[in-house]
Amino acid sequence: MLKLLLKLTAPLISAFVFSACGHNTTSSLASRRALQTIITHDTGATLEEILQYEIIQSACPQYWQLLDAEDKPLASTDAEKFYELEVLCGKWMFIGWETSGKMPLPEILLDAMERSWPERVGQNFSNLGFLANPSDPSGRPLGIARSTTRYTGMPSVNVTCAACHVGKLPDGRYAIGAPNTKLHLSEFNLISYYPLFAAMHKRERDKLSGNIKVFYEELERSERRRIGNGEGGIDWSNVVFKYSTLLRWIGIGPKGLPDAQFVVMPPERDLQSWMNGRRGVFNPGAPMLTIQVENVPNLSIPQLWGISGHETEFQAGRVAPVGQTTKYSSLEKFISSAFIYAYQDLALVRPRYVNPLVSFLRQLKAPKTLESIPSAISESGRVLFTENCKSCHDGAAGESTRLYRSALVGTNPSLENPRENYVATTPIAKLVDSLSEQLKAELRPQPSGIRSRRLSGIWSRQDLMIDGSVENLDDLFCINRQRLRGGSPHGELCGSFNLDEKTSLIAFLKTL
Ligand code: HEC
Ligand code: HEC
Repeated sequence: MLKLLLKLTAPLISAFVFSACGHNTTSSLASRRALQTIITHDTGATLEEILQYEIIQSACPQYWQLLDAEDKPLASTDAEKFYELEVLCGKWMFIGWETSGKMPLPEILLDAMERSWPERVGQNFSNLGFLANPSDPSGRPLGIARSTTRYTGMPSVNVTCAACHVGKLPDGRYAIGAPNTKLHLSEFNLISYYPLFAAMHKRERDKLSGNIKVFYEELERSERRRIGNGEGGIDWSNVVFKYSTLLRWIGIGPKGLPDAQFVVMPPERDLQSWMNGRRGVFNPGAPMLTIQVENVPNLSIPQLWGISGHETEFQAGRVAPVGQTTKYSSLEKFISSAFIYAYQDLALVRPRYVNPLVSFLRQLKAPKTLESIPSAISESGRVLFTENCKSCHDGAAGESTRLYRSALVGTNPSLENPRENYVATTPIAKLVDSLSEQLKAELRPQPSGIRSRRLSGIWSRQDLMIDGSVENLDDLFCINRQRLRGGSPHGELCGSFNLDEKTSLIAFLKTL
């Protein structure tokens, strides 16, 4: 096991050229449009209903069968069927495939976390905001799936897109593409790192700043309480303890071994960013087992409805880049990059894997509010929006098509280009960096600036703005109150309109 644990498999760099990802399927635009509304069912009263497990589980093998060795559709393929399977396969990947780019967590540790800190994590990690997954036979929460054993040498798990991008709407329905604003990923990450903390030598621990140390020492106290089961036996949760001892024994931990530098405690500023994170707003670049040293600020999870992300539109200046921390010229590149981060090689950067997720995302629609909005009010809101907002919110779904200086809207300037001074330092970070460069996956250099995300479905979310600093639409306009969180973005909207105008604007926003 030791050998496996330390083995860093050489990357299999396949010779796929990036442009292959953007190739067209045989389906015509018209048939795509006709299919768009019927293939997936992504908003509904229960998770079971929208996960569509029965329909999606076999879609990928069926879809892949329709492709030749170069990932082009076979000549006999029916265009509609092809597109349908592509989208369903993408939905399956979104829910069940580990493609998030975080380092995997040994499954025994995941189970042990639940057993060791029940009061913190809750059954099935529900206290940390994970949703239940009615279609997972092994009972893991939604958004946690089996992943590569490459780095751990044992069955391991990782988060999938669904952990962050499937959420509950304020009216009780669930929607795919809605941010999971209940998810406490920061705490999940901190807890995942406990074994490394436990394996640290005292002098290394003492270097950690107060609140980080306090957090881990508290975990340690509850962990040690559970080592025995009171009947002379050993409680299963003891696995966390044993794992820590193992790590210490083999010298992983604060010191690390030359070829296992990724299994070290994350840099203090990442730990600190998690300490500062909250539900739905966290450092999204933070891996579960460090592969890179990066200072990513806390961001709110975006809503994924109405994304176009076509390379041609970006090149023509009609859409803003995809992503804020790292900016990409297309969804294809965004997804390819996720694969590079997740697997540290180019094996998955092929149309057969990239296109399904892209096609699934492109057809995701925002849920409509169940509230009835008087059309006279929303109509005057629309007029106000056109006059006051549209110059910047000029995209099809209310997003910006350009980047703006943060000062213009009062966003924290550190978010304009978080990767500005990024230098890959660990071996894996260097590898990921060179693969991205090879594919021209991300924009280089990264442009500075902030763009608004899409406004469709904005009625349903809390934590507006990239940094999640505005609680909801009432808070955006300071209706009957000061901004609750004192956040500044778009603070001018509070003073520029009277209550009637604000009400109309909100009514209009609710129709998007
Ligand atoms: C750990 C939580 C988490 C996971 C897992 C996750 N995302 Fe995200 N996602 C975020 C956050 C936070 C952002 C905002 C980051 C940014 O804009 O730089 C984001 C941004 C995005 C964007 C860009 C949206 C925009 O407005 O530009 C897309 C598209 C996206 N995610 C799709 C996915 C897909 C597909 C997966 C699975 C492969 C995935 N995400 C996994 C949290 C997550
Ligand atoms: C000068 C350009 C500009 C104007 C004018 C403007 N906005 Fe924005 N808006 C932005 C930018 C840039 C952001 C992204 C800021 C952030 O997320 O921190 C944004 C963000 C938002 C968001 C949050 C989106 C999200 O995903 O959380 C809402 C809602 C919004 N604006 C509404 C409005 C309304 C309503 C008006 C008109 C009354 C307006 N904006 C006028 C540039 C502008």
